[in-house]
Amino acid sequence: MSSDPLAALRGARARTLAAFGDLPDDILATWPDPEFSPLCWHLGHIAFTEAHWLLRHVGGDGSLSVPYADRFAQDGRDKSERNVGYDRGELFGYLEEVRSAVAARYADLDGAHPLMAAHYLAGFLADHENQHRETMAYVLGCVRDAQAPAELPPAPLLQDEGPPPRVEVTGGNVVVGTDAPSAYDNERPAHAIGVAPFALDGHPVTAAAWQRFVRAGGYAREELWTPAGWAWREAQGITLPKGWRPAGDSHTRVRLDGTFALDGREPVCGISAHEADAYARFAGARLPTEHELEAAAREARPRIVGLGTTGPAPVVRADDHPTDLLGNVWEWTASAFVPYPGFRPHPYRGYSEPYFDGRHRVLRGGSFATDPAIARPTFRNWYVPETRQIFAGLRLAHDLENVGQNASP
Ligand code: AVJ
Ligand code: FE
Repeated sequence: MSSDPLAALRGARARTLAAFGDLPDDILATWPDPEFSPLCWHLGHIAFTEAHWLLRHVGGDGSLSVPYADRFAQDGRDKSERNVGYDRGELFGYLEEVRSAVAARYADLDGAHPLMAAHYLAGFLADHENQHRETMAYVLGCVRDAQAPAELPPAPLLQDEGPPPRVEVTGGNVVVGTDAPSAYDNERPAHAIGVAPFALDGHPVTAAAWQRFVRAGGYAREELWTPAGWAWREAQGITLPKGWRPAGDSHTRVRLDGTFALDGREPVCGISAHEADAYARFAGARLPTEHELEAAAREARPRIVGLGTTGPAPVVRADDHPTDLLGNVWEWTASAFVPYPGFRPHPYRGYSEPYFDGRHRVLRGGSFATDPAIARPTFRNWYVPETRQIFAGLRLAHDLENVGQNASP
């Protein structure tokens, strides 16, 4: 353990303030999407969560959490009421007040408390802030999307370098998950699982490939969609990834800084699992399971790309190993979010357990907005399949008997 147990918390805060500390009040308070809380709520929630665990739960002092629970606790007020009554000075003051109290009192907290072992809570809270910083980037993406015009001037068709190379993944009896005490409850315990050999696309599906799906009528061909996916698509009138705009015969996308640019070689980003499923059927392939991606990520050389930028970066092509398994865009998997055998809720029942409902799907890998500490091979993200505000795309998997002539050796 590092000699300074609060270093990770300070690093997380520096990155949060760098990304969101200077946003104008109207953006902090705006509420662009009913499924995601406004930016100001996330900032208060970060402070509240830190005060709740360290100052109240371990330290026995609820003065910086209890009065704030209604506004900032996950189980406080309804999401639809989270956009009222925030004052910028109060909000940033609250973040600072909690952090100062933590810094002042940390050394005197009960070191024998089970949640203080190996400074577990400090790490948990740093990761919590890191994750909410990414969620805030989703909200900012929704703001930019809402601000953007419906259509943009004609642009050339997107270009890429053709279908991804396919990489054979040996599989076998692979260990997934981890026993690391610092891991989330849903990543634990490590256990062996049988993974049949398969082929994995060397990189995620690109924007140019997605544009071919669009131009082939992919969003209008019911036979490509699952019944639930088609019903959702019809009800929502979805015809393009979130943030994409028609640009003549082509498309462009809005980025986190509000500018427009779409490189055909960047991974498609802003799609739901329903869209990912339809694309996989269109391509005659399938989504990988979460375990297949984890097995590939363990065998692969990780390359974390584009963290802290305004959108996904062009994929890298390599013939002998998959790239972009960690970072760039989250990848939807075929797997439902279920507990690993021997799952034990930690540090509280509500962290993962409520989402083991058969509705949530696992995503792997991390996006350009994911903190490097989170973009690890064992990390499991989860959302319902309709979610497209997150920075997610997909990568295709192929059963080996279907690989045929195009297989990479
Ligand atoms: C893992 C990103 C789905 O945002 O609901 C934050 C992380 N849990 N605060 C979420 C989380 C509690 C979680 N995700
Ligand atoms: Fe939270």
